[in-house]
Amino acid sequence: MPDLTKSEILAALKKTGDSGFNNEMLVLNSIKSFELKENNLSLHLILPVTENQLSHDLEKRFETVLKKNYPFLEKVEINIETRTPREKETPKATLLPKVKYTIAVASGKGGVGKSTVAVNLAVAMAKTGARVGLIDADIYGPSIPLMLGINQKPRVYHVDQVMKMIPVENYGIKLMSIGFLVENDTPVIWRGPMASGAVKQFMTDVEWDELDFLFFDMPPGTGDIQLTLVQTIPLSGAVIVTTPQEVSLIDARKGLAMFSRVNVPVYGIIENMSYFKAPDTGNKYDIFGSGGGEKLADESGIPFLGGLPIDPRIREGGDSGVPIVFGLQGTENEKIMMKIAYNLKEHAENSTGSKQDIEIIL
Ligand SMILES: Nc1ncnc2c1ncn2[C@@H]1O[C@H](COP(=O)(O)OP(=O)(O)OP(=O)(O)O)[C@@H](O)[C@H]1O
Ligand SMILES: [Mg+2]
Repeated sequence: MPDLTKSEILAALKKTGDSGFNNEMLVLNSIKSFELKENNLSLHLILPVTENQLSHDLEKRFETVLKKNYPFLEKVEINIETRTPREKETPKATLLPKVKYTIAVASGKGGVGKSTVAVNLAVAMAKTGARVGLIDADIYGPSIPLMLGINQKPRVYHVDQVMKMIPVENYGIKLMSIGFLVENDTPVIWRGPMASGAVKQFMTDVEWDELDFLFFDMPPGTGDIQLTLVQTIPLSGAVIVTTPQEVSLIDARKGLAMFSRVNVPVYGIIENMSYFKAPDTGNKYDIFGSGGGEKLADESGIPFLGGLPIDPRIREGGDSGVPIVFGLQGTENEKIMMKIAYNLKEHAENSTGSKQDIEIIL
């Protein structure tokens, strides 16, 4: 009656040619169990690799090599257990593959008009003919839905138990806001982790379709929350919004440093509240000083995209959900915003950098 030992089985298995993994990994313990009944061998192997690292015909090859070495074997049945079953494997997907440019709109300092600029920039960019999306990632106070006149929530549907969201649209802009997912009364300490979770969801579970520009209205500041966010989003670039005032410039420099730390190019600097032009006299007043944005652009070698004046109609446009680029067509302010959008488009297109390569485990 023929017999076989574990070592003999192992010796034969090791003679299998290129089996898609290093034969050195085959050890005695790889043979979890075996049974030889009459001339039929059943063999249970355990291999320290994932299933997709193995060639699909490995069982067949093991069978052949065993039969060749031990010709008395009539039937060989092999069951291979891998370290991770295929169902548990974690496919990776590059985020936002259908979006050309993903751009963070950031400032260091709060209240400089970042959201106002983000909204008007998005609407202006859409008016240049681009397909545009906007993500309100400001965990401290999502304000974009109000500024875009949106009061409904995204539609949600399920495909094979996977949730998908359809962004809400107005003025040709597709919008998702953290405010849609995180309740207003959630304490701020929970908002950080919830925010990066929500932003990740915006990139995996939202039907954005093809977009030329996807803007992210970032929370003000340059702390851990902001840093985590910029590392979560596959950014192609950023724009920094500042007022001409020195305290705003100091924080804007911190913003520049943050993006440089994560290797995200800053496409340009936008100055907001650059001056006030009295509607009755036409006189210009530099309420927050002047030239700060250009000075910052000069010292950092980053393009200056333009400066938007203070105008009560800009605030009203935000409060009433009708951005000035849409509501005040033909005005100087609209022209300035359009110029900023064209400048940004040009700098983004000429930038040599590519989208941050962030992959997430689905
Ligand atoms: N150019 C402008 N002229 C007049 N009002 C403006 C202008 N830009 C912004 N505002 C107003 O200033 C206030 C702050 O603007 P906004 O909310 O856009 O700032 P922010 O930087 O996004 O603030 P936060 O840091 O809180 O997110 C708003 O009431 C807005 O309407
Ligand atoms: Mg804001």
